Amino acid sequence: MPDSLTPLLACPRCDKALDLVPTGHRCAGCQVDFPSIGGIPWLFADPGTALGEWRGRLNFAIQKLDHDAAEITSALKAKDIHKLTRTRLLRLRSVTRDDASRLRNLLEPLEISSLESNYATYLALRTRLPSDQGLTTYYANVHRDWAWGMEENEASATSVVDALGHARAGKTLVLGAGAGRLAYDFHMRAHPDLTVAMDFNPLLTLVAKRVMQGDSIELYEFPIAPERMEDEGVLRTLKAEAPVRDGFFFVLADALRPPFITQSFDTVVTPWLIDILPEDFVVLARRINRLLQLGGRWINFGSLTFNTANPALRYTVNECMAILEECGFENTRLVEATIPYMCSPASRHCRRESVLTWTAEKKKKAERPPRHEALPDWLVKGEEPVPALSSFQAQALSTRVYAFIMSLIDGKRSLTDIANLMVEQRLMNENEAEPAIRSFLIRMYEDSQRSSRY
Ligand SMILES: C[S@@+](CC[C@H](N)C(=O)[O-])C[C@H]1O[C@@H](n2cnc3c(N)ncnc32)[C@H](O)[C@@H]1O
Repeated sequence: MPDSLTPLLACPRCDKALDLVPTGHRCAGCQVDFPSIGGIPWLFADPGTALGEWRGRLNFAIQKLDHDAAEITSALKAKDIHKLTRTRLLRLRSVTRDDASRLRNLLEPLEISSLESNYATYLALRTRLPSDQGLTTYYANVHRDWAWGMEENEASATSVVDALGHARAGKTLVLGAGAGRLAYDFHMRAHPDLTVAMDFNPLLTLVAKRVMQGDSIELYEFPIAPERMEDEGVLRTLKAEAPVRDGFFFVLADALRPPFITQSFDTVVTPWLIDILPEDFVVLARRINRLLQLGGRWINFGSLTFNTANPALRYTVNECMAILEECGFENTRLVEATIPYMCSPASRHCRRESVLTWTAEKKKKAERPPRHEALPDWLVKGEEPVPALSSFQAQALSTRVYAFIMSLIDGKRSLTDIANLMVEQRLMNENEAEPAIRSFLIRMYEDSQRSSRY
C-alpha cells in the first residue's frame, strides 16, 4: 500500500524530508532515527528524551493509582468505619487497582514495565515529570470522546464542519487532537483527502488509534464530582460507531515543532489548543501559516483563555483577529456559540463554555517563526554541567532544611521538641522557631488530608 503520510513528514530538528525505514522514520541529514510507538510515528526533536519523559509521566500516573489503593487499605483499617463507607472503599480500591492494570496493558507499546523508580522518587521529581501535562491531564476527554459525550461531540463537530463552508478540506492536519473524536468526525463528515491527527500525549493517541480501528476499550472514569457511590470509578466502554475510513493517520509530536514539510496542508484545525500552548499567539499564527498552502484555511475552535503569566500575551479575540491579518490570513469568519463542556452523566460538575470558531484563509506567507527551543542543551543532551543557578542554590538550601525537619518526625517528638532542635542547630531563633514549625507542619498535614486524585 502506498504510504501517503511520509511525503508530508519533516525532521523536527532541521525541517528536511524524512525517510521511511523499517523501525520508523529517519532524518538522513541529522542522522536521527525516529521510532514508531504502537505503530505511530514518534517525531519529537529529541526522540529519546521525549520517550524517557513520557515513560516517566505514565509510570508515575500508574504508580499513583497503586499508591491510592494502598491509602484506601490504610483507611479501611480504622475501627469505627461505617458499613457503607467500608463498602464504598472496598469498591474504590478494587476499581483503582483494576484501572492501573488496564492502563499498564494499554501502554504496553511504551515499555514502561522496565522502569524501576518508585512513587516517592517521582513525587520528589514532580517539578517536571507530571507537571501540567501528565498522563491524566486530559483523561476525562477519552470518556467524553468515546463513551458519553454525544451532545458535546456533536456540537463541536458541527461547528468545525460548518466552518469549512463550501471549501474542500483537502489534506487536513488536526493539531492537539487529544483522544481524537473531533478529528474522527471531521474525517468522516468533511471527507478530506487525508487527515493527520497529531498530539504529544501517547495515552490519548493510543486510545484514539485503538478505538478508531474498531476495538472496544474498557477504562474507568473518575468524575470530578461523583453523583453516587457507584460513580466513583465508572467502567466505560470506549468505542467508535464505525472504524475510521482510510486516509487517517496519527503522529506523536510537539505542536511547537510540527514535523511537517512546509505548506503541506489545505486545512489546519486547532481544537482547544491555541491558548494552552506556552508560545506567543503571534508566533503560533506564523507557524500555522507555514503549514498551510496558499488559499488553505485555519479552523480554530474552543476557548480563548491564554494561560500565561505575561498579561501582554493574554490576547482577546479582537487582538487575535488583528494578529491573524498581520500573519497573512484574510477573509476571517468568526462564530460564537455556547456549548456544554465535560458534562459527564456520572458527575455533578458540568460546564457551559462560550466557544469561538474561526476560519481564516492564508493569503500571504508570514514571517518565518523561530525554531522553538523548549529546554537548554544541558537538560536535553545531559552531557554538559548543570549550571549552579542562584535559584537552584536557594532551593538546595531550603530542601536541606525541609529534609532535616522531616527527619525529626519520628512519632515521638512534639512540635516543641522539633522547634527546640532547630534552635539548637542555630537554624532559627527562639522566637521564630515554634510558629514557623507549626505553619510548616500545618501545611504538610493539610496536604496529607487532601484528595490528590484530581
Ligand atoms: C484541551 S485538550 C483538547 C483536546 C482535543 N482537541 C479536544 O478538543 O478534546 C489539549 C490537547 O492538546 C495537547 N497538547 C498540549 N500541548 C501540546 C503540544 N505542545 N504539542 C502537541 N499536543 C499538545 C494535549 O495533549 C491535549 O490533547
